[in-house]
Amino acid sequence: MLCIGIESTAHTIGVGIVDEKCRVLANEYSAISPAKGGIHPREAANHHAEKVVPLIHAAVEKAGIRIDELDAVAFSIGPGLGPCLRTGATAARALAIAISKPLVGVNHCVAHLEIGRAKTGCKNPVLLYVSGGNTQVIAFAEGRYRVFGETLDIGIGNLLDKFARAVGLGFPGGPIIERLASEGGRLVSLPYSVKGMDVAFSGMLTAALELHRTGAGLADLCYSLQETAFAMLTEVTERAMAHLDLGEVLLGGGVACNRRLQSMVRMMAHDRGAKMFVPEGSLCVDNGAMIAWTGLLMHRSGLDIGLEESGVNQRYRTDQVDVTWIQ
Ligand code: ATP
Ligand code: FE2
Repeated sequence: MLCIGIESTAHTIGVGIVDEKCRVLANEYSAISPAKGGIHPREAANHHAEKVVPLIHAAVEKAGIRIDELDAVAFSIGPGLGPCLRTGATAARALAIAISKPLVGVNHCVAHLEIGRAKTGCKNPVLLYVSGGNTQVIAFAEGRYRVFGETLDIGIGNLLDKFARAVGLGFPGGPIIERLASEGGRLVSLPYSVKGMDVAFSGMLTAALELHRTGAGLADLCYSLQETAFAMLTEVTERAMAHLDLGEVLLGGGVACNRRLQSMVRMMAHDRGAKMFVPEGSLCVDNGAMIAWTGLLMHRSGLDIGLEESGVNQRYRTDQVDVTWIQ
């Protein structure tokens, strides 16, 4: 069985093809990287509209298949930026009609989780899902992926990207901050904001920018941002593991590429006799393969949708998805 997946929630348009063993046959993408300011949804959507057809052709060619060998067409139905989501959905509908194959609407957050489960072999993990727009601690309970904790304001990646942009480091900020942090080593005090199972980052952003304005060194600030923010995430993840009595933790989302975050969570897991899992970077960031894989699971579970039900949902929550493919 072959499924194609179209990802278009934010800055990346991605097209992936996977088979029933979750072998990734293709995972093509193009990301818009605005020179200044954040992502403008309309500009990103225009970029996606321009790239999506060539990417579909490139993915099919890379996979070495004929387009009519595909069994299903999956796309990110939400959450995300409206114009971007609608562009991907339009392409998916057109493709499904053209090759007369069923359509599957995938929740983007659930896809980050499913590709991690399939690729790392973990069974029932607590997922720490850390990306630009999202920061959630998720676990499976009674037919759904439940959100046990999340950010109360901006996503962790957003914190890193906003800081980096404001101090002139460029975009995306996460990898640049990771590199600079390794040159710093003096911990500057920043607000550590954990509220029960939830976290908040905007106070830390304001404080870090103020410290930068008053002369604190950039490397030390990058180091301190990582240490403080990642410690908050590790704390709430550990609490979820303890409450749920789960022995696995899975990282997903673009920020999961960060080695320091990985090492903190690994250490925490090790101390509690648990195991940490993280898929390779190309499957942590937004990508088409994770949509294709989740689409394949859903298609096998009879969750195809008609064209009339394929409208996007910008605020589609992780815990709104009926996860009927897990027994
Ligand atoms: P979502 O729609 O799920 O919120 P997203 O649009 O933010 O996702 P992703 O590709 O999942 O897209 O994540 C991008 C984020 O990951 C950016 O904020 C980027 O700075 C961050 N990132 C990428 N690599 C690293 C790294 N090595 N360290 C920290 N952050 C990273
Ligand atoms: Fe994402």
